[in-house]
Amino acid sequence: MNSQEIEKMAHKMSWQKFVAMEEKEKIIFLNNLHTGNPFHVLFAQQFNRENLDLLCQIAEIARAINKNKQEGVKFLRKLLSGTHALNFFYQPSSRTFLSFETAQETLGMSIRDIRDPSVSSEAKGETLEDSIRTFSSYVDLIIMRYPEKQAVEKGAWVLNKSDRRIPIINAGSGKDQHPTQALTDIYTLHKSFNGEIDGRTIVMCGDLKRGRTVRSLSYLMKNYHDMKLIFVSPSHLRMKKDIKDFLTSHNITYLEEDNLEEIIPLADAIYMTRIQDEWDEKNDQTKKIPKPVDPKYKFKKEYLELMKKDAVLMHPLPKRDEIDEEVGYFRDKRVVFWRQPRNGVWIRVALIALIFQKQQTILDYTHWPKKWREGG
Ligand code: NCD
Repeated sequence: MNSQEIEKMAHKMSWQKFVAMEEKEKIIFLNNLHTGNPFHVLFAQQFNRENLDLLCQIAEIARAINKNKQEGVKFLRKLLSGTHALNFFYQPSSRTFLSFETAQETLGMSIRDIRDPSVSSEAKGETLEDSIRTFSSYVDLIIMRYPEKQAVEKGAWVLNKSDRRIPIINAGSGKDQHPTQALTDIYTLHKSFNGEIDGRTIVMCGDLKRGRTVRSLSYLMKNYHDMKLIFVSPSHLRMKKDIKDFLTSHNITYLEEDNLEEIIPLADAIYMTRIQDEWDEKNDQTKKIPKPVDPKYKFKKEYLELMKKDAVLMHPLPKRDEIDEEVGYFRDKRVVFWRQPRNGVWIRVALIALIFQKQQTILDYTHWPKKWREGG
């Protein structure tokens, strides 16, 4: 199918048909019709090795450009100046929200937000698709966090039907996916291992059933060679079958283990996660005091001794007690979870730049300060 045919099909497609398609069939309706790079970003399966490597490259260069506080900062700010972004967050968020805002500001976008469902016309009975279609008249990009998986898909579907097909990015869809956190994690691995992610063993520990970040990161593993995943979790919070089936179908080895301590020496990356008890039944958020994590699934400070010398300890944050508090204060270069938020800003800069096809302008940047050009 050529791009016009895809566009025509997307225009005509019913929601029932769109939602019933498998993820891999949906991709052509989400990516840029000409470049094949992600345009609407709904799930991690949309990314291939080529665009992941490209995103890490753009993030690194944009970050270096930004160090030039005169020309560099101005150059980045001009890239998307005159465009507007809407951050539409219907679920609690502080870091992802701030991360997107910082990325948008870095690229010169002006920013609007909606964070309170009660102020939106949905409270007056408007459908979500009508809300999104209306919002698309005011802005050039929508970032959306919503408790239900299908909400952001509905956004992409309705925008595909509109004459103003602006991009929409999933900033967390319930228990399902969080693709831009997974991109942050890939960029963190890329930086930690000097671009050599292939062949690594990644341990994921905690709430693997409801943690959307580990789900999205597992999907991205298909793009790397000889990866091994080791899942460590309480038995009722194991990684779900859909992910395990995906890994099997892509010949990615995974194991399920119960003893974190024994596994640590094998790991290149240990990815700790919070127990997502906001999803527990009859959970009253206002009164809830988090239960201490089962010590079996806690990263204790002594475990640093067991880690390989070039392994890394990651966490998407927010964290509770699943990592001994002191670990965060050690000046150990393997503790990278405080670097992830900063990496998250730059990979989001890269993603937005790619969506708006500004990647080449960034890669071709030539206004380096004189001393850098001379290798200073
Ligand atoms: C995570 C999320 O919201 O899914 N945090 C994040 O976006 N950095 C993880 C969590 O809430 O535990």
